[in-house]
Amino acid sequence: MNAAVRAVVRTALFHGIKVDGILQGYTGLALGRFLPLEMGSVANIIQRGGTILKAGRCLEFHQTETRKTAAENARRQGIDALVCIGGDGSFKGAQALMQEHSIRIVGIPGTIDNDIFGTDNTLGFDTAVNTAMEAIDRLRDTAASHDRLFIVEVMGRNSGFIAIDVGLAGGAEEVFIPDVALNLDQVIDRMRISMQRGKLSSILVTAEGQKPGRAYDLADQLRKRANLDAKVCILGHIQRGGSPTAADRLLGSRMGAAAVELLRNNEHGFFVGTDGPRLKKLPFAEAGKVRHVDRDLIELTRILSR
Ligand code: F6P
Repeated sequence: MNAAVRAVVRTALFHGIKVDGILQGYTGLALGRFLPLEMGSVANIIQRGGTILKAGRCLEFHQTETRKTAAENARRQGIDALVCIGGDGSFKGAQALMQEHSIRIVGIPGTIDNDIFGTDNTLGFDTAVNTAMEAIDRLRDTAASHDRLFIVEVMGRNSGFIAIDVGLAGGAEEVFIPDVALNLDQVIDRMRISMQRGKLSSILVTAEGQKPGRAYDLADQLRKRANLDAKVCILGHIQRGGSPTAADRLLGSRMGAAAVELLRNNEHGFFVGTDGPRLKKLPFAEAGKVRHVDRDLIELTRILSR
């Protein structure tokens, strides 16, 4: 996100447009927490995780009254356009603000989950996948040396994009994601076959699903049903931090600049997405649709790790 903030600020200043940062997203907008940003304000941040502007979930923003206050604060501050970086929830808030108060808004998809419809990539996803993959590489050393079975839980409340990419890139034996029903008996059968072939260690990757800790339930089931002893590793918020990958820095830089260009052309009500290597603009409403993972990758993960 910092790469995107930096790009928005510096592109805007390049074109003579003043920029204020809004601290803590919609919470800050509702409370009038603005921070004038200059070239130097965004120096030395491209390599930093998180966001210098801070972030937060603002449940009050569901209320029309809060949005009215937010819009008044923006006007009072002389803000006539917003760049909103966030996920589906942030984009819904942006849509409401646009419709009710005619504020010009352009979005940048920022979520490690990569679950926004219409764009191949969201900010933070690549970093999260690389972080989790490195963790699996490390776990594999113990798994292989001690002949152990590991269940690694990655983030993704309603989506399995991180799990699928991490599973494939990390050479996992199985991947479990929210939108594919889990048949544990089949998993156990496959594991028994590979054990008979002499396979002594395995790594299973699961998305957290609705509640973190799903990996413990799975380990429990494996113990009860098949007498398998699985070690659990929940990666949690480790995936949401750390220095961003080059791919994420490039994406943030390009999306930030593109968002400002859209506003300069008086185009708003869109978010910036990717289609392969290219950037594109999509109406905010698109972001509300459900994006499904490529299920073939689950099968490919199994085939390649047998
Ligand atoms: O929405 C992104 C995400 O990283 C999910 O994968 C995860 O379930 C959630 O955020 C955790 O967020 P929080 O710590 O705010 O509950």
